[in-house]
Amino acid sequence: MADKDKPGAMSRSGYYDRSLQVAIYPHLKKALRCADASLPKIAVDAGCGVGRDVLFLVESGYRVHAFDANAEAIARLKDSAGDLVSTMLFPRVCSFENFEYPRSSLISACSSLFFCHPDAFPTAWEKMSQSLMKDGLFCGHFMGPNDSWASMGRGDLTVHSRNELEGLFAGNFDVLDVHEHDAEGRTLLGRTKRWHTYSVLARKSD
Ligand SMILES: C[S@@+](CC[C@H](N)C(=O)[O-])C[C@H]1O[C@@H](n2cnc3c(N)ncnc32)[C@H](O)[C@@H]1O
Repeated sequence: MADKDKPGAMSRSGYYDRSLQVAIYPHLKKALRCADASLPKIAVDAGCGVGRDVLFLVESGYRVHAFDANAEAIARLKDSAGDLVSTMLFPRVCSFENFEYPRSSLISACSSLFFCHPDAFPTAWEKMSQSLMKDGLFCGHFMGPNDSWASMGRGDLTVHSRNELEGLFAGNFDVLDVHEHDAEGRTLLGRTKRWHTYSVLARKSD
């Protein structure tokens, strides 16, 4: 596979330009509609890219802690956010497993968390789920086994079967909605691939 085709190699101005034209993540919009109004409006955007959803969250009144492993993405987010940085928006270059997650009422991980290396995923998930307040919301995508990137056996993506996914949320979340997408499609850069993803919206129950 050529480097330019690897999902982790979105370096990536073209990819990020297009990501700004994509609609706000639907489960994030739904999360805001079912958020508990008594909780503080503190959100984390994990693997935020250049921040399409971050700016939506700030406009919706959230203080947003946004991180991404890609320094170019965070630099672009800081440029576009201007004076919001350090008042309503706290951007960082960081990985899922190393980020110091603040106590928050909302964590969003749109099309990002499956890029976490499988060895690092348990730590990342533990930190994310522990940092979420009771009644706080998680929304994010997971990758299923039929995805063409998963079936290549690359080994650097985290893949979940439906049962494994249910196990992640069992015990301390109430799953509010799961949207499974399993179909041929295209990447934002126009390459054909099979997508198999689960988008999950869940409420922390303890
Ligand atoms: C498909 S993009 C999605 C970006 C954004 N959430 C959006 O919806 O536009 C995936 C993002 O995950 C980031 N990423 C990949 N591996 C990461 C890791 N280990 N830790 C943090 N971010 C990572 C990439 O740099 C990229 O910006």
